Amino acid sequence: MPTVNNDMQQGGSKVIKSDPWMDSYAARADNMRASEIRALFATASRPDVVSLAGGMPYLDYLPFKELSELIGKMLLDKGDVAWQYGSAQGDPHLREDVLQIMALEGIKDVQPDDVVISNGSQNAIDLVTRIMCDPGDVVITEAPNYVGALGVFASFQVEVVNAMTDADGLIPESFEETIVAAKKAGKKVKFLYTVPNFHNPAGVTMSVERRPRILEIARRHHVLVVEDNPYGLLGFDGQTYPALRSMDAENVVYLSSFSKIIAPGMRIAWIVAPTGIRKKLILANEASILCPPNMSQMTITTYLDNFDWKKQISQYRGMYKERCDTMDAALKKYLPYCSWNKPKGGFYIWLKIPEGLNSKEMLPRAITAKVAYVAGTGFYLDGSGTHHMRLSFCYPTPEKITIGIQRLAGVMNNELKTAELFGQAGVEAAGNGDSAADGHNGKH
Ligand SMILES: Cc1ncc(COP(=O)(O)O)c(C=O)c1O
Repeated sequence: MPTVNNDMQQGGSKVIKSDPWMDSYAARADNMRASEIRALFATASRPDVVSLAGGMPYLDYLPFKELSELIGKMLLDKGDVAWQYGSAQGDPHLREDVLQIMALEGIKDVQPDDVVISNGSQNAIDLVTRIMCDPGDVVITEAPNYVGALGVFASFQVEVVNAMTDADGLIPESFEETIVAAKKAGKKVKFLYTVPNFHNPAGVTMSVERRPRILEIARRHHVLVVEDNPYGLLGFDGQTYPALRSMDAENVVYLSSFSKIIAPGMRIAWIVAPTGIRKKLILANEASILCPPNMSQMTITTYLDNFDWKKQISQYRGMYKERCDTMDAALKKYLPYCSWNKPKGGFYIWLKIPEGLNSKEMLPRAITAKVAYVAGTGFYLDGSGTHHMRLSFCYPTPEKITIGIQRLAGVMNNELKTAELFGQAGVEAAGNGDSAADGHNGKH
């Protein structure tokens, strides 16, 4: 009789049975691991905990009532399409609509046929990796890195190699050195995965001056650039940066998403890719999901066609700016011995904590004190990140953010006292080598 995969009570003692399929999994399943963010989700969602952990957009400003009426009407008028299978490339109406969004970041040469719709950017990263990478191939990334991308790369047995970043994003020299070293070691470097704007989790933005340099290096070494840009329109002062794709149509695969600028529940994002890659992406979409859901795509087009979406995004920007300012001020007041770069947009502050503290080990104590964050280790594959944490300011109200930082300071002050008591290092925040994008008390 097969063993079962859950805990069993036997004679009063708890016996944990092993997974009967243990020997049957593909090698790629070995590399999959739970995201530290998902692991935290249940605890961090308790109402008494201030969660600075999740990257959920705050949606209360969406016109839910009007939207429901319009979507109800759309389903009545076009139910035969909305409830039906659709094209693997995505709804042509939506592919047309996204052109006006991309134009805001300088991408003006794209036709609807160049666009592929995906189930969120997460699925887009999966599709690109699926068609480009064999096990053992190298993907170069910024470090720390978006945890969802790390999960995809691990599941395709890709070797992730980090290039250095600083307050201006990816460092071109380090990018080139990383390519050269990987090639010298006999590896195939398939692409650079970069989040150039308001990085998750580092909060930094690639400088405009560096962008053409990164592209030139990538072209010279025949390395594709995958530009993941879900936050580009969420610059606090309304500023946008020229997309890498706007400077290079041949060597860049561009990803963007409605998750942060409208809402993630529809799971709709889009990809722009050079012709050959685009054709493969459509086939991969078909093999993986048949087609993106018509109902979600039509909900998005209904929204875009009937609402002042630019005004909505600008409202989001104002709200996130206020929350970021609040977190920055609270950090300055309560945690002056930490360091960070104050972001110019997006959702996250990447906080460097003093030597002697360990963000992963401290987390249970923080949760007990009713504040949650994501330990920096979640954003690396090699165990680095113990001296960092990601603080999200997107979801909690400004009042909650201040309370959360106060609680965090209480926990950290206690930890530091204990560390001192046991003769560990003091509170100097410098020099643990985790990341070059560390900042100085939010002054940059
Ligand atoms: C950098 C980055 N890429 C992709 C995603 C996934 O977005 P989507 O909801 O479109 O799958 C996220 C979500 O947090 C993200 O931060």
